[in-house]
Amino acid sequence: MRKAFEPKVSIVTGAASGIGRAIAAELVARGSHVVVADLDAAGAVRAADELGPSASAATLDVADAAAVTALVRSVAAEHGRLDVMVNNAGVAIGGLLEELDERHWAKALDVNLRGVVNGVTAAYEVMRPQGSGHILNTASLAGLIPAPAMLPYTTTKHAVVGLSTALRAEAASQGVQVSVLCPGFVDTPLLDDVYAAPDSFGGSSVRARVRLLQPKFLTAEQTAKRAVDGLAANKAVIPVGFLAHAMWRLLRYAPPLARAVIQGQATGHRRLNERAAAKAAKSRR
Ligand SMILES: NC(=O)c1ccc[n+]([C@@H]2O[C@H](COP(=O)([O-])OP(=O)(O)OC[C@H]3O[C@@H](n4cnc5c(N)ncnc54)[C@H](O)[C@@H]3O)[C@@H](O)[C@H]2O)c1
Repeated sequence: MRKAFEPKVSIVTGAASGIGRAIAAELVARGSHVVVADLDAAGAVRAADELGPSASAATLDVADAAAVTALVRSVAAEHGRLDVMVNNAGVAIGGLLEELDERHWAKALDVNLRGVVNGVTAAYEVMRPQGSGHILNTASLAGLIPAPAMLPYTTTKHAVVGLSTALRAEAASQGVQVSVLCPGFVDTPLLDDVYAAPDSFGGSSVRARVRLLQPKFLTAEQTAKRAVDGLAANKAVIPVGFLAHAMWRLLRYAPPLARAVIQGQATGHRRLNERAAAKAAKSRR
């Protein structure tokens, strides 16, 4: 019989905003004390205040391995346990490969991948001897299917899916559960500033592009509810939203069709860039 999901102590990274903040609220609602950890110190304090006495704030850069270890150890020492670690902090970096430079890759690798490695390593160090605990890593639909015009993002999110599903197999015998969250597009501040180059995607916003694929955005609250239900059911992979389910299935059961859709995205992005460049050249003449 599955153990009841009754977390007492949780840490959520990137919890000052968006999905992380909503997951923190959902865990508080299910009876957990939650440490709201974020690079945005003021945002973390604000979110923890709004969540009430069951939440506390911590300033954390997930890319800093020593800081992540120190936070996890101090929370476990203070509360005597750590039940849930949500490695959620992330950044979105989009654009065609030729629009990206070393800094874009470094940022995505440091936060989206190294940040998760740091969180997983620190939490496992506490959970394995404890013989219990659940690690939830936030990847994305872009971790399940190739997402062109955002290579650093899709590269790091695929790595997070691989890390999570492999660790799940390793950790099961130690009493530690591991899940990975893969939402489609969620209406959060992450979508406000995605493209590395200002004229990428013809200068139009990522929200415009997203609407072509997914007319209705998911909310952070819907995503968090699905995430925590997925934790309680100990799901390996938690896709959220119609687009995520549909594209994931399409890639598995009709790969040529899925590849055609993905190719269409890449072609569409490049065409919009070329059109914007031609328009700019014409207006300069
Ligand atoms: N919004 C979407 O459409 C979407 C879809 C799928 C997956 N995701 C993933 O969900 C996660 C949360 O994104 P969101 O949409 O809620 O975005 P968001 O921008 O609302 O929240 C991200 C939070 O992470 C924090 N953060 C950034 N770098 C950090 C660092 N180095 N250390 C600690 N905190 C840091 C930010 O300050 C922010 O509070 C990310 O991993 C993102 O890739 C988002």
